[in-house]
Amino acid sequence: MKLSVDSRLETVRGETLVRFFTREDRGAIPTPVAEGEWSAAPGSTLMLHHAGLLCVGMGERAKVARQTLRTAAGTAARFLRKAGRRSAALDLRAYPAWTDAAAEGALAGQYLFADFKKAGARPMERARLIVKAGDLAGARSLARRGEIAGTAANLARQVGNQPGNLLYPETLAKECRRVAKEHGLGVTVLDEKALARGGFGGMLAVGAGSRRPPRLIVLRHDGGRAGDAPIALVGKAITFDTGGISIKSADRMEEMIFDKCGGMSVLGAMAGIARLKLKRNVVGIIVSAENMPSAAAYRPGDIVRTYDGTFVEVINTDAEGRMVLADGIAYARKDCRARAVVDLATLTGACVVALGDYAAGLWSSSESLQAALLDASAATGERLWPMPLYEEYTDQIRSDVAALKNSGGRPGGACTAAAFLKAFAGDTPWAHLDIAAVASHSKSRPETSRGATGFGVRLLIDLVERWKG
Ligand code: BES
Ligand code: MN
Ligand code: ZN
Repeated sequence: MKLSVDSRLETVRGETLVRFFTREDRGAIPTPVAEGEWSAAPGSTLMLHHAGLLCVGMGERAKVARQTLRTAAGTAARFLRKAGRRSAALDLRAYPAWTDAAAEGALAGQYLFADFKKAGARPMERARLIVKAGDLAGARSLARRGEIAGTAANLARQVGNQPGNLLYPETLAKECRRVAKEHGLGVTVLDEKALARGGFGGMLAVGAGSRRPPRLIVLRHDGGRAGDAPIALVGKAITFDTGGISIKSADRMEEMIFDKCGGMSVLGAMAGIARLKLKRNVVGIIVSAENMPSAAAYRPGDIVRTYDGTFVEVINTDAEGRMVLADGIAYARKDCRARAVVDLATLTGACVVALGDYAAGLWSSSESLQAALLDASAATGERLWPMPLYEEYTDQIRSDVAALKNSGGRPGGACTAAAFLKAFAGDTPWAHLDIAAVASHSKSRPETSRGATGFGVRLLIDLVERWKG
């Protein structure tokens, strides 16, 4: 979808005008709307066909924030795309400072994963963002940033939505090479031979049961001074998680195609960071494997030597995310000499239980990194909630026969998973985002269609811009 900004209020042929109404401004709707007929609740719409006008609800005026407009713009774009409209004009005259959020919302709303559907639904072609003439310059630069962030998030969704039979570590690496080339990112891929030579025992163990071998994919953006330590973004990309020998139940197992979404957030963020030409050195590390049961699979009781030499006792082969991330985080620290590491992973069902799908869990060893992440969260509307790293969680994952075990049982499951990862970050400032609940949605919402959400892409771009660490 092409986005443009101008101050022309009258619409051209075929274009639907979108206006945003709080409960309090319903009086300005050009048609009398009976009390109780439309409350302008967030997520609600009122289409006035005769006027070519789509009214979108923003709820109570006192609660309106950037995120309200982002969601409302998404609701508008999704509504119009579903109605088969090709173009829209969004009236942002009251919200010029939020033009970026409106652009992001509109891009998210019109996105649809339709690769395997015979013709039919198509994304919208154009959206025009209308501001007052005096606000044009500022709004144009905001729209550009919003366009870059929103497009990057949709890239993460598009790759995230691909099924496991087509997208596996090797084809993911190919896709990463394509994205890297298009965006001017450096790229290195370690295949199974290189992983074996390097001693990436966590990745090799998880990938052992699959006919599709693992890949460690490194994307580089050298926007800062040569030699400045990079910030590392590490993403879990299990292209399908069956649980392995500790096999999952069949119920909703198909959703485990989304177990690669941490890696997709990293891919999308790197694409956005490159397009924005951010003046920072950033390295994106995607640790990818397929977790399958087979005669070659790793098993409970195995002892695995990770990339940094730590011995890990495997209790549960379904706790595979931390095994691959152990290698990815150690690689960021040892090989990239990162000044900070942020990992993203659909890591635990326990985090879904703890927070519902309203926020990702945040664990961090660094106060300043945590503060920057919370600021990025507030700015982007991608919610994070801080969680604890008590020593007791680490005690819970000590093994009798090795340094660590890969499961500490049910109590505090999201926190023991985080404590496990912390052991591989050493004294490098580190943060972990458990995105298990927010990386995909099983049902469509007014502002976005079902499937991968792209959660984390806008957050990471914002973080890299703001963290001076
Ligand atoms: N990918 C899953 C976590 C997950 C669960 C993501 C539900 C999204 C929705 C992860 O690999 C996993 O299986 N975790 C186990 C860990 C346990 C065996 C210690 C879990 O959460 O049950
Ligand atoms: Mn698992
Ligand atoms: Zn998993």
